[in-house]
Amino acid sequence: MDLRHTIAQKISTALSQLDTTLTTDQVADMLEVPKTLDLGDFAFPAFQLAKSLHRSPVQIAQQLAPLVDADGLSKVEAKGPYVNVFLNQPVFAETTFKAILSDPEAYGSADVGQGGNVPIDMSSPNIAKPMSMGHLRSTVIGNALANIYSKLGYHPIKINHLGDWGTQFGKLIVGYKMWGSEEAVKENPIKNLLAYYVRFHKEDKDHPEMDDEAREWFRKLEDGDPEATKLWSWFREISLKEFQKVYDQLGVTFDSYNGEAFYNDKMDEVIDILESKGLLEKSQGADIVDLSPEGLNPALIRKSDGASLYMTRDLAAAIYRKRTYHFVKSLYVVGAEQKEHFDQLKAVLQRMGFAWADEIVHVPFGLITENGKKLSTRSGRIILLEKVLQDAVALAQKQVDEKNPTLANKKEVAHQVGVGAVVFHDLKNDRMDNFDFNLEEVVRFEGETGPYVQYTNARAQSILRKAGKTGADLVDAPALDDAGAWEVVRDLGNFPEMVTRAAKEYEPSVIAKYALRLAKAFNKYYAHTKVLTGDASQDSRLALVASVSAVLQSALALLGVGAPAEM
Ligand code: ARG
Repeated sequence: MDLRHTIAQKISTALSQLDTTLTTDQVADMLEVPKTLDLGDFAFPAFQLAKSLHRSPVQIAQQLAPLVDADGLSKVEAKGPYVNVFLNQPVFAETTFKAILSDPEAYGSADVGQGGNVPIDMSSPNIAKPMSMGHLRSTVIGNALANIYSKLGYHPIKINHLGDWGTQFGKLIVGYKMWGSEEAVKENPIKNLLAYYVRFHKEDKDHPEMDDEAREWFRKLEDGDPEATKLWSWFREISLKEFQKVYDQLGVTFDSYNGEAFYNDKMDEVIDILESKGLLEKSQGADIVDLSPEGLNPALIRKSDGASLYMTRDLAAAIYRKRTYHFVKSLYVVGAEQKEHFDQLKAVLQRMGFAWADEIVHVPFGLITENGKKLSTRSGRIILLEKVLQDAVALAQKQVDEKNPTLANKKEVAHQVGVGAVVFHDLKNDRMDNFDFNLEEVVRFEGETGPYVQYTNARAQSILRKAGKTGADLVDAPALDDAGAWEVVRDLGNFPEMVTRAAKEYEPSVIAKYALRLAKAFNKYYAHTKVLTGDASQDSRLALVASVSAVLQSALALLGVGAPAEM
């Protein structure tokens, strides 16, 4: 149980003596964290109970405070309409440090997931097109969620649902045959494949026969025609190789690359079920599922020429994932602009009689902007994305050179700092917020950045190095009795709650913001406290330093950001 729930349980028990029942979870949701430490570490507001108890909130607070079990607390105090709870600081510091230092990796983890499978549909760029900033966001958010769910005992399955199927491949084949060459594609795959596609769309306006031809090629592809298949798999392979460069830089791996094409032979069943349940309707020659009762636009299942669609493949994929993984939850980290698609997907699955559609969660996110404007998918964006990461690394390299010219593994550190900066910047914003991308800003060592958190950890590590101690040496350090350290200690104690909350809200920013808060609190402490005094109290302060470092490392690891020991 995390700290918030431990306190909530005490209050819930006290409330039952006042003849009210609120569950521990309900109380936990109501508990506030006072702005200043003189108001305690948690505050329970009594407003909501006034009506049912026929008393004023102030009276309720006064009655409730003495009923709260004070074990582990230093004080429980009624103040106005609040019950303020003060933790026993030395006791809390000691147990927290012990918990962290005796098993740093286990701290914050829990087995709520009990090994349940959680497929995470993430990244999922489109073949023969540049990987967009949106795909980058999906990749890093999905990766962080996988880490967070794994820490809570779930078994995440990272699926790259590649956009490798659809009528556009018919167009691509026609374009390639008209204007392309093997050499050109080999030289710059994404740029040239995209160029054929773009040119196709320009020229088909005057040459409608091109569209017929493209449809024909896609039909061939769906039927397994050798030439079409060969071209398609070549396009797929070389595109994937380009995407892989970005994944390698980010250090993100996948458990499956089953993209849309994988479901080509699994869609007949979907159509059969829809048909047998009488859900399919004709509309202008196409097959649709009418979702007006749900207040949604109709779901397009099959085009008039018989070609299948994005939705049909997603239906097949959802069913396949349920059968293969028996998931307890199935996440889709996809931009907010596809909200309706996922609403439709769930609605159709419900209609098909799959109650597990409830476990499908669309995890949407906002846009990355440039000077407040939406980034357009211009040609060559893939190069830009790779380049963004390269530029970030170069910028980090410059900073490391200045700060620590004699550092041994400078290249590796610059990579961790540069790439980590971009990833952290993405994850520190609430995922639905649109945010601007400015490289200089992102890679700064001060302010709310990834490098700031990394630097704080490296500083803590350097203190430990100077003292010649590791976290393991400090597990039995004497209790810390230093009021100035309290903010740091309390933040450390909050880490498990943050992990749970990040998972519940599908929000890695909870962890990123927490890491910034902890780093800030520690730097403040360190600015006015001498840690290395050489006397008997030194070890208890070192235990705090080691705990901060361990938790910062855990937080960064959850976000998929490296934590260099020196920088
Ligand atoms: N390839 C799609 C796109 O770039 C994203 C796919 C998301 N996943 C899914 N199962 N529909 O827009």
